[in-house]
Amino acid sequence: MRAVELHTPGDPPAVVDRAEPVPSADQVLVRVAAAPIVPLDLLCASGTSYFGTPRTPYVPGVQGVGTVDGRVVWFPTTAGMAPGDGSMAELVAVAEHDLVTLPDGAAPAEVAALGLSAIAAHMALTWRGELARGETVIVLGAGGVVGQAAIQLARLYGAGRVVGAARSHAGQQRALAAGADAVVALDTDSPGDVTELADRIGGAADGPADLVLDPLFGVPAAAAAKCLRPGGRMVNLGSSADEHCPLDSSTIRSRSLRVLGYTNNELTRDQKAEAMRAVAQHAADGDLTVAHELVPLEDAPAAWQRQAEGRTTGRLVLSLG
Ligand SMILES: NC(=O)c1ccc[n+]([C@@H]2O[C@H](COP(=O)([O-])OP(=O)(O)OC[C@H]3O[C@@H](n4cnc5c(N)ncnc54)[C@H](OP(=O)(O)O)[C@@H]3O)[C@@H](O)[C@H]2O)c1
Repeated sequence: MRAVELHTPGDPPAVVDRAEPVPSADQVLVRVAAAPIVPLDLLCASGTSYFGTPRTPYVPGVQGVGTVDGRVVWFPTTAGMAPGDGSMAELVAVAEHDLVTLPDGAAPAEVAALGLSAIAAHMALTWRGELARGETVIVLGAGGVVGQAAIQLARLYGAGRVVGAARSHAGQQRALAAGADAVVALDTDSPGDVTELADRIGGAADGPADLVLDPLFGVPAAAAAKCLRPGGRMVNLGSSADEHCPLDSSTIRSRSLRVLGYTNNELTRDQKAEAMRAVAQHAADGDLTVAHELVPLEDAPAAWQRQAEGRTTGRLVLSLG
């Protein structure tokens, strides 16, 4: 079978011929239709993540959509986080209990593009962020997949005002297309612009906000925290802007803020499956979509490089159908 294979941590993968996987007793063979290239794939393959250096060679891909006996399923994998292969191949062996059957009408590429990023947006808004109807939500990194999904899901779950904040003009346009009431530009080049950025975000929020969804950290998170009401919540789920953040004690303390971390890795299998079913149903209903681009498997190395350099206009999805 054809497969993407990573040989050296930190280098792009190659497309190779590989033996078909042999499923163990609790596994089934999934014929892959679509596999996204996501930040977590690159983080795992870098060899510098908190998962450690992956055993090579391996097939990357922490998730995918495919078919088993005519059933269309979404599946997660632990590729790059634990020994074993992932979704970027024509066939992958997956434990039967990890398969999530998709509802009728859910397009494989669409669901693959949403994937774990939309699961994170859903769970960070509802489970960790405890979004209540009518609340004002600030979504940072609003042009990314987490951000686009969070804006649409916040709307679906009854948020009042939803403000998106994105770095690039294209990202701001994606946030508007996702349904943000207002969008602000993020300038993160100067460490001194927290106050100015807070004024900008606060102005767009048009009053104290209740919840910040933060896949960026860094200056944007510090600025957004200043826009929260007393007792407001900020959920951090990534560090796309910076691993560190100039969040000051007086902001957290004076407003009794709740600063919360979130990772999909803490979800039980049932929680993850339930979240994916909700995401896929919204997609099937036409209420949830994110910008994405289909790429043939043979072009995976170039697509991987584009993701590494931030030269994408949406989620890159390897198409194997
Ligand atoms: N905790 C979890 O379980 C979980 C799950 C999924 C994802 N994540 C994390 O969440 C983050 C976003 O994921 P994603 O799927 O949305 O990725 P994505 O679609 O690739 O989007 C990344 C976004 O980050 C923005 N960005 C990158 N560098 C930035 C900077 N220096 N300043 C401001 N914005 C910057 C980009 O903005 P532009 O569009 O303007 O370039 C882009 O919109 C990643 O760190 C990912 O690892 C966490």
